[in-house]
Amino acid sequence: MRRAIYPGSFDPITNGHLDVIERARKLFDEVIVAVAHNDEKEALFSLEERLQLLKDSVGKIDKVRIAQFDGLLVEFAVAQKASAVIRGLRAVSDFEFEFQMALMNRKLETGVETIFLMPKEEYTYLSSRIIKEIARLGGDVSSFVPPAVSKALVRKFAG
Ligand code: PNS
Repeated sequence: MRRAIYPGSFDPITNGHLDVIERARKLFDEVIVAVAHNDEKEALFSLEERLQLLKDSVGKIDKVRIAQFDGLLVEFAVAQKASAVIRGLRAVSDFEFEFQMALMNRKLETGVETIFLMPKEEYTYLSSRIIKEIARLGGDVSSFVPPAVSKALVRKFAG
């Protein structure tokens, strides 16, 4: 059983994340999409909301499981018997942080390999942060995120 963890804040999930999940599914028997809940980042959506949006968006996809984790990512990966961590790489700007995280995770746990997957070119400019900003300013984000997320953003910023 080849299992991978796809960790992130997912605040909220975008079509770029979906694309990475689809690619990872082709390489692994199971992909655990794992929401970090000790992240220092101030989230727009609560952990429960982020998990619900993930369920609505990828909950029914075969070989995909949704989870949450607290503490170190590599410890969660070992506990789940996962051999790999998946991260999406969009541009050079992602590289420095991702490289640092991958090497540190490898130092902490040699049995877990980080694998970078590049989303489709049309998603390289997508980020949860930019999506939230556009939605907050009243822009239409429906072509960048799953339908459940688009609705949730409209509700969040209504009034
Ligand atoms: O979507 P993000 O915000 O880029 O995801 C970052 C995340 C959650 C993958 C990262 O912050 C993480 O792994 N947090 C868990 C704590 C941990 O293991 N930190 C050490 C990383 S070297």
